[in-house]
Amino acid sequence: MKIRTAVFPVAGFGTRMLPATKAIPKEMITLIDKPLIQYAVEEAINAGIEKIIFITGRTKKALEDHFDINVELNNQLELSGKKDILKDMKRISEMVDIIYVRQKYMLGLGNAVMCVKDIVKDEPFAVILPDDIILSKTPVIKQLIECYDKVECPIISLMPVAKSDTTKYGIVKIKEKIDSRFSRLKDMIEKPEQNPPSNMAIIGRYILTSEVLSALDKIEKGAGGELQLTDALKYTATYHDVYGYEFEGKRFDCGTKEGLLEATINFAASNEKLKNILKETVYSLNIF
Ligand code: UTP
Repeated sequence: MKIRTAVFPVAGFGTRMLPATKAIPKEMITLIDKPLIQYAVEEAINAGIEKIIFITGRTKKALEDHFDINVELNNQLELSGKKDILKDMKRISEMVDIIYVRQKYMLGLGNAVMCVKDIVKDEPFAVILPDDIILSKTPVIKQLIECYDKVECPIISLMPVAKSDTTKYGIVKIKEKIDSRFSRLKDMIEKPEQNPPSNMAIIGRYILTSEVLSALDKIEKGAGGELQLTDALKYTATYHDVYGYEFEGKRFDCGTKEGLLEATINFAASNEKLKNILKETVYSLNIF
């Protein structure tokens, strides 16, 4: 079955970005000139995704408004002759149809993914965590879809991290290398406190299947008292093939201040209009 649907779990509180996230969703934080969620939605569209599902919570109205038509704003832009901006605003509201599902209690990423069970039924689907922003030639979710088309099994995006950082991620154990980037996985553990099985960390792009949804039904709460997607993938790997793909691209954790700063500098450096301002500003700071 073709991957047509992408699920965006966006119900989390974003406590690491407080106070910025007190009144606005983490996914509406801006990177240069667009909210994080728009980068993620554009990644999905560029990968050929046709249907988008947002798993939202109570404080996420701004996300719905961002992808909706703002009639008053459009009228104002029309009247003031700002045609280019108007075109861009129309493009955002016409980008894609979005289904919104509420996660009632913040019981973890696994619980958020469970909320789409009745919508996706037996279809495989992509999952994108919008605070992981990845600069890449080919959208990372497309890289994973291409892997899925070969094996038709769950696929997890992977990235090597420093050994000292393994406590912050889900970490996988590889069973068999298929090629330099693609592996069959034996096991995975969420935020291992000691003895990580490797330095390959799980990043926020997945292809999931009905096997993983069934596993989510069976497992207990894990790290942090939350229903962990990593634990469901671990359970699935005990009786079904689960693969990992080391994606091509540079990832930034925009759910943290450090990651957002790094992303802002990298995106500015690759933007013709902003590159010089970045150079001049850094030079004038005299910090080296
Ligand atoms: P995070 O672990 O980044 O949690 O969730 P968070 O609440 O967003 O941020 P912090 O840790 O408090 O700073 C990873 C992804 O899973 C979603 C989040 O919205 C984020 O995209 N999520 C997490 C849910 O949708 N529901 C949950 O119950 C938990």
